[in-house]
Amino acid sequence: MEKRGVGEQPAIALEGVTKTYWNGAEPVHALRGATVRVARGEALALMGPSGCGKTTLLNLMGGLDVPTAGQVWVAGHSLAAMGEKDLTLFRRRHVGIIFQFFHLLPTLTVWENVALPLHLNGQPAMKVEAQVSELLDRVHLGHRARQKAYQLSGGEMQRVALARALANDPQIVLADEPTGNLDSQVGLEVLALLLDLCRQRGKTLVLATHSAEVGARADRIVRLRDGMIENPDAA
Ligand SMILES: Nc1ncnc2c1ncn2[C@@H]1O[C@H](COP(=O)(O)OP(=O)(O)O)[C@@H](O)[C@H]1O
Ligand SMILES: [Mg+2]
Repeated sequence: MEKRGVGEQPAIALEGVTKTYWNGAEPVHALRGATVRVARGEALALMGPSGCGKTTLLNLMGGLDVPTAGQVWVAGHSLAAMGEKDLTLFRRRHVGIIFQFFHLLPTLTVWENVALPLHLNGQPAMKVEAQVSELLDRVHLGHRARQKAYQLSGGEMQRVALARALANDPQIVLADEPTGNLDSQVGLEVLALLLDLCRQRGKTLVLATHSAEVGARADRIVRLRDGMIENPDAA
């Protein structure tokens, strides 16, 4: 794995990133030369209209997709230099992801959903036990641990997803419209919890949102339009 020297390096750096999808013979330019750097421990909001490239940018940061051109660095690692296997391990250890539609396993319990990434990382039972119970307490769901995920409200599901994203103590947390499917009041409560958890634990957070109210609570806003950064001085 290629690794930069430690020091002032950002937690995440996208350098001149382009992403082109193909719709048959038609190119779709999802990103056109985006440069974004995110400092360690920062909470960055990615904003812009639907289709501007927010999800694509998050997917590249999380190593879920590869750029057509340009470089992606996360925690000093060049993702392009990693093979599929390394990338999978890297994601499991260093990246926590939260989605708009929660993506819980509905027939597993709350406890099992949060424990799953810890089991995948081969953590010993005692560590799993301690970590899951601490996180469920933190998201105020200790009392729902034995319930099946499908029995929860949307706000509760997203709180389980927050706990799951943090289970492996990742350095970076990516959240794609985490409040997009929640009532605005519930969404703001979930957002407050997400920001608190990330700030207390020194996590680097990047969240995509349509909502100006949500964006305003981040440390910084980067605006995308048609796959380009609108405010490059802030990126
Ligand atoms: N897998 C894909 N295949 C083809 N086009 C895609 C794919 N994913 C995204 N796009 C296109 O790329 C552009 C950016 O999409 P996306 O990153 O999802 O934007 P946002 O999250 O801001 O709504 C859109 O035009 C979208 O239709
Ligand atoms: Mg999106």
